[in-house]
Amino acid sequence: TGVPASDAAEHEGDIRRVGVVGCGLMGAGIAEVCARAGLDVVVHEVGEEAAGAGLARITASLDRGVRRGKLAAVDREAALGHVRVTSDLAELSDRDLVVEAATEDEGVKVELFAELDRIVEREDALLASNTSSLPIMKLGAATRRPRQVIGVHFFNPVPVLDLVEIVPSLLTSPETQARAEGFVTHVLGKKVIRAQDRAGFVVNALLVPYLLSAIRMLESGFASAEDIDTGMVLGCAHPMGPLSLADLIGLDTLTAIAEAMYADFKDPLYAPPPLLLRMVEAGLLGRKSGRGFHDFSASQKGH
Ligand code: 3HC
Repeated sequence: TGVPASDAAEHEGDIRRVGVVGCGLMGAGIAEVCARAGLDVVVHEVGEEAAGAGLARITASLDRGVRRGKLAAVDREAALGHVRVTSDLAELSDRDLVVEAATEDEGVKVELFAELDRIVEREDALLASNTSSLPIMKLGAATRRPRQVIGVHFFNPVPVLDLVEIVPSLLTSPETQARAEGFVTHVLGKKVIRAQDRAGFVVNALLVPYLLSAIRMLESGFASAEDIDTGMVLGCAHPMGPLSLADLIGLDTLTAIAEAMYADFKDPLYAPPPLLLRMVEAGLLGRKSGRGFHDFSASQKGH
């Protein structure tokens, strides 16, 4: 990742053992970048089947990195040797940092933070959430150590995108923020931006209204999905169009983010359009289910 060895060494004493909760799109990516940075990683998934699928996701992404010439085969092996997937949350007890990347559901996340607070032994361990839209304060309030709870928000695909949003709550300590920023910058080699604890932070506050506008444009029959995407790719040099990006994020996740932002701001700008809701109800979730605004059944699932 191009991190100077001296910088990495200075920070590595503090955080060596990382836990990741959830091995979906984001959790798998976060586990992968931590393992590639040489950290000891334990990932939690609910049940053996999901744990197996999570490990397969990490392996597939490492393989893609090798195919693209971003990763030596020997580093792929080393990274895999650093990751263990478990269905027992208690195995995260000895971690220095836990990054929660479970489903974007407030009840689930609040319960997880209460549980992590009980489980994680190190007094000053960092308890981070990859939430895109839920208040960090609510997660901190579920623990007895809100000073150590912080938002650390990655972007999908995590091994490719170099940004992390750092989101302290009203009670997060400056030490926690400095440790989280030092870790992301010097150990993971990613660029940090800071945001206040408001739904959507910086990137989703701008991105989600744009994606919802594209869905409303399709819904109203104004233009086809292909033309909307081509318009933004060729007209604005975006790497992918808004409907393709919605399919990459996952339409269920996009809906959950939009609903959380709508709940925070009460602004119709963030209200998920009926077409998006119907597609989620139909199980058309984007790449991960094989079909969203585009059909992926013929191509490889996931990126
Ligand atoms: N490890 C390392 N590098 C990898 C990799 C891996 N596993 N997989 C791919 N790469 C590299 C490739 O080598 C390539 O690098 P290069 O440009 O130096 O050759 C680069 O990533 C692009 O990969 P591909 O050529 O395989 O694929 P595309 O060119 O089709 O790009 C894409 C795919 C990276 C998804 C690109 O379309 C993109 O960046 N799209 C926008 C994604 C985006 O906006 N994400 C943010 C979503 S919002 C979010 O996550 C927040 C959440 O809260 C919703």
